[in-house]
Amino acid sequence: MISFVVCKKAIKTSGYQKDSFTIIYNQYFISSLMQTNTLQPATETSTLGIEKHPIPFNKPYFIGNEIAYIQKAVESGKISGNGIFTQMCHQFFEQRYGFRKALLTSSCTDALEMAAILTNVGLGDEVIMPSYTFVSTSNAFVLRGAKIVFADSQADNPNIDAAQIEVLITPKTRVIVVVHYAGVACNMDAIMALANKYQLLVVEDAAQAIDSYYQNRPLGSIGHLAAFSFHETKNIISGEGGMLAINDERFEKRAEIIWEKGTNRSAFFRGEVDKYGWVDVGSSFLPAEIVGAFLYAQLEKLDVIQTKRKQIWDTYYRELTPLAQAGHFRLPNIPNYASNNAHMFYLLFPSLDARTNLIKHLRHADIHAVFHYLSLHKSPFYEQQHDGRTLPMCDLYADTLLRLPMYYELSENDLTTIINEIKAFYSPNANA
Ligand SMILES: Cc1ncc(COP(=O)(O)O)c(C=O)c1O
Repeated sequence: MISFVVCKKAIKTSGYQKDSFTIIYNQYFISSLMQTNTLQPATETSTLGIEKHPIPFNKPYFIGNEIAYIQKAVESGKISGNGIFTQMCHQFFEQRYGFRKALLTSSCTDALEMAAILTNVGLGDEVIMPSYTFVSTSNAFVLRGAKIVFADSQADNPNIDAAQIEVLITPKTRVIVVVHYAGVACNMDAIMALANKYQLLVVEDAAQAIDSYYQNRPLGSIGHLAAFSFHETKNIISGEGGMLAINDERFEKRAEIIWEKGTNRSAFFRGEVDKYGWVDVGSSFLPAEIVGAFLYAQLEKLDVIQTKRKQIWDTYYRELTPLAQAGHFRLPNIPNYASNNAHMFYLLFPSLDARTNLIKHLRHADIHAVFHYLSLHKSPFYEQQHDGRTLPMCDLYADTLLRLPMYYELSENDLTTIINEIKAFYSPNANA
């Protein structure tokens, strides 16, 4: 049987011309998956002399009942949105984390767009958020016509620096968006105090923050609204997927309407109205029941997943501490008020070059480590609209942060390989 690797090489040598070659390749790829049910990459020998295979940055996985629940959903006769699995997911989140109301969405991007609609921001309104974030955080509010006022990150972690927010507040400010980077809480007491003082709304971008806490309060339950992601790179996955958490009663009914294309269909299905129609703006934000079924299977095993991720995170931290002490890089800092949901393990390098050098070394060993956001205030789309303030911490994280492979099925052997490759890179004889 021709291996997957042979196919990959064929693509490389062909310069990956789309059209007929791609179609043949895709057909071959699917049929080989059907035969073996798994990819079998070829093995080679690494610089450390051990048999190696590619270690990806992320890998989706099954944890239990995903396939069985998808099958049940299909057999139940309903695979469009808001079916039984979707509702079971809502209940799970509301009970476990105390969200007033949870609504699954097709992505965290969708949940942020719903949040932006709910806050009623429009042309001329200002929204404060960190520049070190994913484009969806800001795009959701730009789509409503709002102006983004970017804030800098903390010196000791990439979260928004709460101490720098107040000077950015003007009479036009409506919303503060916080991003709990790597699932580590922002300084929520300071941020909620500002919101109360100036009558602002707080949206938590909790894309990475499932099962994480600020002083024992679940992230996503503190701001007025919160958006989560279940994208395949997150702790709990459903391919694409997300959730809006609504913690303020004022937004509860409207959120459901926006979720259902601007109609009161959910109220109709509960028997609260005798017909449903167009009552507000909205879109198709709810995911298919297949997504809910997959997600619910993951939620059943949330504690198992979290325990395993924390073990991986702790091993990285313990094993890499001596190199951090030697000054090669810094390790993640978790403030006292924050818990660690082990979403991400990152290193902070003294320079861009130092980061690039390790990326190259790991690439050579077939280990995929990746950097993260680029400063949004310098993006081609927003640079002209930014007010010109420099945001040095944000730029620093953009240049020097590196994320190591982190996923539920990362084996002990692979974890050891990654750590050993990093140690080998910094060993005194490395370049001898
Ligand atoms: C902070 C943040 N917000 C929003 C998103 C968008 O999430 P999704 O891919 O579920 O739309 C991401 C993506 O990783 C993210 O990192």
